[in-house]
Amino acid sequence: MDIQKKPWMFLVCLLVFAGWLMGIAESIRWLSLQHSHLNWNISSMNNNHGRGIRSGIRSPCTLARRRYGLVKIQAKLCRNSLETMPHIQNAALLASDTCRKMFSDRRWNCSSIVTAPYLTPDLTRATREQAYVYAISSAALIYTLARACSSGTLHQCTCANKPNNAPAENFQWGGCGDNVKWASQFAKRFIDNVEKHALLKKETTKRAKDLKDENKLQKNELAIVNLHNIRVGRKLITASLHTQCKCHGVSGSCNIKTCWKALPSMTDIGKALLEKFTKAKVLTRHGIERLEEKTGKKQGLSDQLVFLSKSPDYCTKDEKLGSFGTVGRHCNVSSPGLDSCQQLCCGRGYKTVVEEKIERCQCKFYNCCYVKCKICRTMTRIHECL
Ligand SMILES: *[C@@H]1O[C@H](CO)[C@@H](O)[C@H](O)[C@H]1NC(C)=O
Ligand SMILES: *[C@@H]1O[C@H](CO)[C@@H](O)[C@H](O)[C@H]1NC(C)=O
Ligand SMILES: *[C@@H]1O[C@H](CO)[C@@H](O)[C@H](O)[C@H]1NC(C)=O
Repeated sequence: MDIQKKPWMFLVCLLVFAGWLMGIAESIRWLSLQHSHLNWNISSMNNNHGRGIRSGIRSPCTLARRRYGLVKIQAKLCRNSLETMPHIQNAALLASDTCRKMFSDRRWNCSSIVTAPYLTPDLTRATREQAYVYAISSAALIYTLARACSSGTLHQCTCANKPNNAPAENFQWGGCGDNVKWASQFAKRFIDNVEKHALLKKETTKRAKDLKDENKLQKNELAIVNLHNIRVGRKLITASLHTQCKCHGVSGSCNIKTCWKALPSMTDIGKALLEKFTKAKVLTRHGIERLEEKTGKKQGLSDQLVFLSKSPDYCTKDEKLGSFGTVGRHCNVSSPGLDSCQQLCCGRGYKTVVEEKIERCQCKFYNCCYVKCKICRTMTRIHECL
């Protein structure tokens, strides 16, 4: 329909959007799909076009919305593109695993990512940690989808287009590149749109100038910051594409070489983001306004994670701040790093517990098909923060 001819339609749309947006837009709630056991089987819902209301059967998308925190636009994408959902679920798991692996030796160890769709304050106050989680979830989604395209497990997309730049003399473009372009476009619709709707809400509140609600403004600031960090994750993925090659020719002579653009491992991407985490910049209110005006580039922030609230030291338990404390955490007495007992236990000291581990060991193959193992008992000393 033509909005210009019907200006009231625009207003109605705005109001409808505002109505939808109860509460803070949190475009990482979908990470709760890491726990999902939903059946995304297409043939299980062929008769009801995914709505499942008339037939009495709930579609996996409706269930995902109810139980796993998908918002309306995401549930709609789910229905229109059910085939992507198992991959999105894998992406949630990948984001969670990567984050927890990267932070396993730190006081804040990303454990709160597993409580999604319920988010603790460390992931809602626009902290440095939140910036990482938004960036890694956006990166993990693009990563998973781009790989699914090139591996042929997602039929909506294909291998990436060949790069525009002419290949060097000794190779030609070929093979199957990870389709980051398609994956990014999908991720924008699945993640960015959730935050963008929150910004749209701001337009309506801005108009009602008398209703200066601090709290609402805060929500919009959050959306701007989240969107920025999501973008940082996306840009990092695109920038991390590298050329991978394969040789052809008689007995490995490499007469012909074909190359394509591939992604590194998710661990590498998690590490690169960790570097950005340590260099993340705190934003002032003025800084947010400039980010919103898309002048991030001029500020030199385009590749940097940004946050609004300073984090606590995560030493002691404080639920209001989303700090779980480090009591009971296992520290490493010989480590000079963040997981050292001094650092992890915040100087409170630690106790040593001896734990007995019983494991199968010294396994041997017999004939072709039997494996026999011994039972080994090992004693390990575990150091627990007080
Ligand atoms: C999907 O469901 C149909 C019938 O309900 C079944 O035959 C098919 O094996 C299922 N496919 C997968 C991948 O689970
Ligand atoms: C992460 O931290 C939480 C809270 O301190 C703790 O309960 C959990 O065991 C830690 N996880 C790992 C893998 O150390
Ligand atoms: C403790 O730290 C040392 C030094 O970094 C390392 O070699 C060792 O593997 C760590 N131990 C454990 C149990 O992680």
